Amino acid sequence: MQTANAVVMAQRFIKPKLLTASLVVDATAGNGKDTLFLADSTPNTTVVWAFDIQAQALTKTNELLTKHKLADKVHLVLDSHAHMHQYIKQPVDAAMFNLGYLPGGDHEVSTSSETTIQAVSQTLQLLRPEGLITIVAYPGYEHGRVELQDILHYFTSLSQKEFTVACWSIVNQKNSPPILYLIEKNEE
Ligand SMILES: C[S@@+](CC[C@H](N)C(=O)[O-])C[C@H]1O[C@@H](n2cnc3c(N)ncnc32)[C@H](O)[C@@H]1O
Repeated sequence: MQTANAVVMAQRFIKPKLLTASLVVDATAGNGKDTLFLADSTPNTTVVWAFDIQAQALTKTNELLTKHKLADKVHLVLDSHAHMHQYIKQPVDAAMFNLGYLPGGDHEVSTSSETTIQAVSQTLQLLRPEGLITIVAYPGYEHGRVELQDILHYFTSLSQKEFTVACWSIVNQKNSPPILYLIEKNEE
């Protein structure tokens, strides 16, 4: 088993929700690892949507999916996740956000508080009861620290009747490791 970190734990927490999922979302495709995980962990009939604003990220994601013969079940969208509602009209079972910049890419092209909050808000509107969103945030650099503060402010404002918001973090590691937030929609 892989050593625990926020990215690994996001996959562990979300995996049970994928077994019967009809529609799942990777809001930040990046190099495609989470998209591959979602495509590989869901039934053959599941539709996976993956968003990124960088063409190079979607090219890498498509290459990875094609290598694993899973490209057919994934819609790759070259657009901001803040426009998710223009593409997805059905209920969402699970969604993953891995914030920050593309590893090995331009560090200036990063997620930002405003669009992340818009996208999470749209996902919450589409989320089925007992559906789960995972968000990995990076407080280890200035832009990421600000984004984390802003999204945390938004998360704490969510109705506790409608949603359960939790976080997972490593407390004995140097250099502000990533933090995982989990938002589950409560049963109706
Ligand atoms: C940390 S990477 C994601 C890593 C990816 N989940 C993986 O497994 O390889 C963050 C990605 O978010 C993308 N991104 C930044 N702003 C975005 C936005 N508004 N909408 C969608 N993707 C965005 C970046 O281009 C980058 O590829």
